Amino acid sequence: MSEALTGSPVNPDAAVSVRGLRKVFGKFAAVDGIDFDVRRGEVFGFLGPNGSGKTTTIRMLTSSITPTSGTISVLGEDAVKHPDRAKLRLGYMSQKFSLFEDLTVDENLRFYGGVYDLTAEQFAERRAYVLRMAGLEGRESELTRNLSVGWRQRLALGTATLHSPEIVFLDEPTSGVDPTARRRFWDLLYDLASNGVTLFVTTHYMDEAANCSRLAFMYRGRIIADGPPREIRESLLTERILDVSTGDADRSLTWLESADGVHEAYLSGASVHAVVEAGLSPETLTARLVAAGFADARVVPVDPTLEDVFVNLVSQQRGA
Ligand SMILES: Nc1ncnc2c1ncn2[C@@H]1O[C@H](COP(=O)(O)OP(=O)(O)OP(=O)(O)O)[C@@H](O)[C@H]1O
Ligand SMILES: [Mg+2]
Repeated sequence: MSEALTGSPVNPDAAVSVRGLRKVFGKFAAVDGIDFDVRRGEVFGFLGPNGSGKTTTIRMLTSSITPTSGTISVLGEDAVKHPDRAKLRLGYMSQKFSLFEDLTVDENLRFYGGVYDLTAEQFAERRAYVLRMAGLEGRESELTRNLSVGWRQRLALGTATLHSPEIVFLDEPTSGVDPTARRRFWDLLYDLASNGVTLFVTTHYMDEAANCSRLAFMYRGRIIADGPPREIRESLLTERILDVSTGDADRSLTWLESADGVHEAYLSGASVHAVVEAGLSPETLTARLVAAGFADARVVPVDPTLEDVFVNLVSQQRGA
């Protein structure tokens, strides 16, 4: 866990190594002292609710903004003292759209070829590779604004990797993309990872989080959990989760929120997940739901998902 790193020096062999990193806007600490390492070749998932400080962190790691305090090593370079050194070796797909809508696919690629200072030969080779990778061959002269969101994200990934970076930072690369396109996007990410590229990805999708080799979970500017997804799932939530389906999820949620023995209740797909005290059996809860008017109530114990773990981590922090 991150506490072990606090106070230790940055690790220059890591792809990213961060110590005591803070960013204060006015009086508000958007990032409030975080420590973590990302190993080379890792697919690192950076999670957390809206406003928890993910984008602010990525902007510091990519030297887009300067930290208020703390140390950052990216690919062995000191990103605070020498912001330009790592910049040409990293790719950044920002949360806000990084493509020019009024330019064609080809013109966007050319623009980034210029940004990364590629020679004509390098550009021709990388352009062909990116068009093939993104599945955009034959669509070079289409206006970017006419591409669907899924295609744009692939083009954005293409422009972020045009210069063959060793690490790519992706800030919610698949938000607003349908499940099929998301899966195809992740196939591209795996291709990059299998070529040794380190990936630093933020996402709100828990299925994507489960695809990562390691996760860090941000909450209010701090990292409140980190580790491989499996370890996080198994070690951090020891309470019992019951899946409650009644045919009226909203009404049963309201009921469960004030029910005895229920610590936490939240929607999970079409049913409600209830975190309950050890003594409350599924049978007892079913009987109480039936008595409360939920005639079709069905209650089954489930293994906690990553989502369960994070919902509970957040509620523990709120209560703390
Ligand atoms: N330039 C800025 N000036 C003032 N406050 C800022 C600035 N940039 C970010 N913040 C604030 O810092 C906090 C963290 O924002 P950030 O964008 O890093 O969150 P996030 O985790 O990326 O959220 P999301 O999941 O919504 O993208 C928010 O409260 C935000 O309003
Ligand atoms: Mg963000």
